[in-house]
Amino acid sequence: MPITIALANQKGGVGKTTTAVNLAAYLARAGKRVLLVDFDPQANASAGLGVRLAEGDKHVYHALIEPDKAIDSVKASALERLWLMPAHADLAGAAVELVNADEREYRLQKALSNLLPDYDIVLIDCPPSLGLLTINALVAADRVLIPLQAEYYSLEGLGQLLNTINLVQQGLNPNLQVLGAFVTMYDGRNRLAGAVVEELKTHFPNKLFATMIPRNVKLAEAPSFGQPIALYDSHSRGAEAYQALAQEFLSLFEQPAL
Ligand SMILES: Nc1ncnc2c1ncn2[C@@H]1O[C@H](COP(=O)(O)OP(=O)(O)O)[C@@H](O)[C@H]1O
Ligand SMILES: [Mg+2]
Repeated sequence: MPITIALANQKGGVGKTTTAVNLAAYLARAGKRVLLVDFDPQANASAGLGVRLAEGDKHVYHALIEPDKAIDSVKASALERLWLMPAHADLAGAAVELVNADEREYRLQKALSNLLPDYDIVLIDCPPSLGLLTINALVAADRVLIPLQAEYYSLEGLGQLLNTINLVQQGLNPNLQVLGAFVTMYDGRNRLAGAVVEELKTHFPNKLFATMIPRNVKLAEAPSFGQPIALYDSHSRGAEAYQALAQEFLSLFEQPAL
């Protein structure tokens, strides 16, 4: 069964896109067929994978407008087994255009339902808001994965995110569950960071990933070369961390049923 994961946090700059790109790459390396859906009009995940759109190329906006033709919006990446549904600035308009459309919260789910059999894992990189695009992602997803920075302010807004997830669970997508949360841009020399991680453990009992992603300049450089860290610098600390995160992620689906 394919599994669909939304990377969500309405804060910008917490590592959603860096994680979407690098987790997707290591899952593909681990033998999974992966579709990364860039669902942010800023299109950072598309750029991070080095995918440039030519005039007339379809992107995720078209898949929302015509879900039956979603396959036209899928592009191959430089990595084997990794495909991308790219974003474009036009996606910002979709949020407005869909406001009065039928089943406006189900557009992405509908688009992906046509594609799911071709993949093992679909990752959705959400925009930094809790608007209609993120709602579409949460409706399309089976699980939510939440990146957090280990700083005091990351706890702010977390309640609002969990509340939105609850509302979607109660109405639009009863199947939705929180897969877990994990810490990004971790700096072990910062004492506050350790305290915040302890606090996060109480917010996510048994659901905070053991793997923490360190702050690592190679992770910030890689997108400007249009490469996931697996291609840009596979021996960097950032690469090792994302590889470990991918392994921990996969282990969650390999536990025997109780
Ligand atoms: N572990 C990391 N170490 C260093 N820089 C990082 C790391 N993770 C993300 N960044 C950088 O931080 C910025 C925000 O990350 P990004 O993944 O785009 O966040 P979001 O998608 O949540 O807005 C980007 O410039 C990115 O390159
Ligand atoms: Mg982003």
